[in-house]
Amino acid sequence: MTGGRVSLDTREVLRGVDLTVEPGEVVAVLGPNGSGKSTLVRSLLGLVPLTAGSVELYGVPPRRFRDWKRVGYVPQRLTAGGGVPATIREVVASGRIARQKRLRPASAADRAAVDRALRAVSLADRAGDPVHALSGGQQQRVLIARALAGEPDVYVMDEPTAGVDAATQQALAGTLRTLAAEGRTVVLVAHELGPLASVITRAVVVTDGLITQDGPPSIAAAVQEHCHPHADEDVRVPLSGWKPTP
Ligand SMILES: Nc1ncnc2c1ncn2[C@@H]1O[C@H](COP(=O)(O)OP(=O)(O)OP(=O)(O)O)[C@@H](O)[C@H]1O
Ligand SMILES: [Mg+2]
Repeated sequence: MTGGRVSLDTREVLRGVDLTVEPGEVVAVLGPNGSGKSTLVRSLLGLVPLTAGSVELYGVPPRRFRDWKRVGYVPQRLTAGGGVPATIREVVASGRIARQKRLRPASAADRAAVDRALRAVSLADRAGDPVHALSGGQQQRVLIARALAGEPDVYVMDEPTAGVDAATQQALAGTLRTLAAEGRTVVLVAHELGPLASVITRAVVVTDGLITQDGPPSIAAAVQEHCHPHADEDVRVPLSGWKPTP
């Protein structure tokens, strides 16, 4: 992204952001509540239009980008709404859609990828449970698994560990370490890095719509003392009105 600006509701939420993420990096995006972290990662994916500046994914603007199977996105919150209750496995399997040529029965490779993703977030034994009954932290694990199931090259995760228990955070750190060793790229938003602190290769701090720090992981430790996680984590939120990964 070069000179990226975003206005929401007449307010300028990103005010001129330059950020280039290289393949293989594991970048933590840190900063206070409301500073623009989610808007930044969403605009990197073309989910929020820029009002000025430019963004490219693998060298093309998001609207012309076609290779969405290379990108996995874990949103910060699920949108609530009515609808048919989906099981954990169905939601995780939706992460494979961008890989499938047409709607067709899942292949052995699809099923294996979904199983692997479910194991990575310790939900394999609950695959048949309806997602709407899960806590916020458990839903976050489902979203992580959905991104993993797609086996993308780039992972964009918005607060993947918010409300997630310590054991799963450890497991996620291990998973991200494996992905990084495979040369995949990760951009993750976090308030508290916890076990993820040892996995990141770079820290970026967003303050009031601007990148105010960008450098080695050591930056993260100093910043985190000033940040506080959301208070409302792990509340039950109905999961439906689901949108598959773009
Ligand atoms: N749809 C919207 N319309 C108007 N303002 C918005 C909208 N979405 C977000 N904002 C505002 O934009 C600013 C940045 O929001 P954003 O969600 O990117 O911050 P954040 O750093 O991700 O915050 P958090 O740590 O709480 O997740 C906030 O002040 C927020 O109130
Ligand atoms: Mg956010």
